[in-house]
Amino acid sequence: MTDATDARLAEQYEAFPYPRRDPRDEASRLIVGSPGHLREIDHWVFGAQRSAARPLRALIAGGGTGDATIMLAQQMARERRPGTITWLDRSGSALKIAKARAAARGLGNIVWEQRSLLELPGSGLGPFDYVDCCGVLHHLPDPVAGLRALLSVLAAGGGLGLMVYAPHGRTGVYMLQDALRLLAPADETPASRLDVARRVMRHLPETAWLRRNGFLDDHVSGGDAGLYDLLLNPRDRAFSVHDLNALLAGEGLEVTCWVEPIRYDPDPLLPDPKLRARAAALDPIDRAALAEALAGNVSAHIVYCVRRNERTECADFMADGAVPVTRELSGEAITDGIQPDGTITLVLDGLRLPLALPPLAAGILGLVDGRRTVGEIAATLAARGTGAEAFARAWRTTFTTLQRINRLLLAAPCTGC
Ligand SMILES: C[S@@+](CC[C@H](N)C(=O)[O-])C[C@H]1O[C@@H](n2cnc3c(N)ncnc32)[C@H](O)[C@@H]1O
Repeated sequence: MTDATDARLAEQYEAFPYPRRDPRDEASRLIVGSPGHLREIDHWVFGAQRSAARPLRALIAGGGTGDATIMLAQQMARERRPGTITWLDRSGSALKIAKARAAARGLGNIVWEQRSLLELPGSGLGPFDYVDCCGVLHHLPDPVAGLRALLSVLAAGGGLGLMVYAPHGRTGVYMLQDALRLLAPADETPASRLDVARRVMRHLPETAWLRRNGFLDDHVSGGDAGLYDLLLNPRDRAFSVHDLNALLAGEGLEVTCWVEPIRYDPDPLLPDPKLRARAAALDPIDRAALAEALAGNVSAHIVYCVRRNERTECADFMADGAVPVTRELSGEAITDGIQPDGTITLVLDGLRLPLALPPLAAGILGLVDGRRTVGEIAATLAARGTGAEAFARAWRTTFTTLQRINRLLLAAPCTGC
């Protein structure tokens, strides 16, 4: 189902392909993020149980100018992982940019499909082991229909990575969208509406919530595409934790990870033991909703999910054969950040979260390279005088603490590699 608003949405992403990207920048940096990161897919979707030797068929639906597509394709190419990534989007302008980025990197593992994701059922595309849809469902006329279209091409045992807007961290956005609907009606050309938005931003009253909102800067740093997307988008709706959970549960899906897990844990926000005890009585979704409402800084929810009846337990991180891997975090970086009291402080959208690591963490993390097994790390430390029990205690705390911030995960097993 499409409507006039959806036609305007299509027009927007032709005029302002999103996000603004210059293919020449591929020479100097790889943009990484969530969802769609290979290490996260291995860990959060497949529970580090799916062999790296098995070809991965991934769909990036509403791929835009290519951030997730380029990231995943590059990560797979770098690790010589078999499979293909299918980029799919309606926007021809976005396609041009995404293709140029892939060409700049010499990536040959991408398939390009310019069409609506709503046409996926019966399209002959798929099935896909991983379906990524970042920043798209909340723009659709019917997010449920969009999600169903994605599920129609999801292979048995596969999973999704999704991002949808969240309400509290976007405080101020919807007020300005209301204002701009009055000053720059939707039937004007994108260029003229953009001009109005720029003028409004120049003289935004100091009381406007968007001016006070430090969690968003796309309208400042994202160029015309960022400004248009945030303030002039013809349709976007924000999903609270409960809204998103209802959407997913309604389609038989279960979240395997809210990224980062620590953001959805109310305990660090509730130092008062009486309040912690009350929070402990809540179910996991209410606890996540509580954290969202208390912190107030989440502007988008990122989740990995699988079909409820297909969920498999994550591999045991304590097992000798498990292979831990960091996600964009070197052992040294963690070590350097450890304070004299043994804590490291993580700052997530302005929220400071102290994390306690055991004294052995630095030594352990220095040995995590995505190849050594837990057993090998333990043996190396044993040769330096660390007993098995001391290692097990320190490893448990190190892994669980850094997994909560999505920085230490388990690698895909290499059976048959
Ligand atoms: C906000 S952008 C997100 C781009 C990219 N996923 C990212 O996060 O960087 C939304 C994208 O969804 C695409 N889109 C919107 N509706 C779509 C539909 N029905 N089918 C396919 N793509 C669609 C737009 O063309 C646009 O490129």
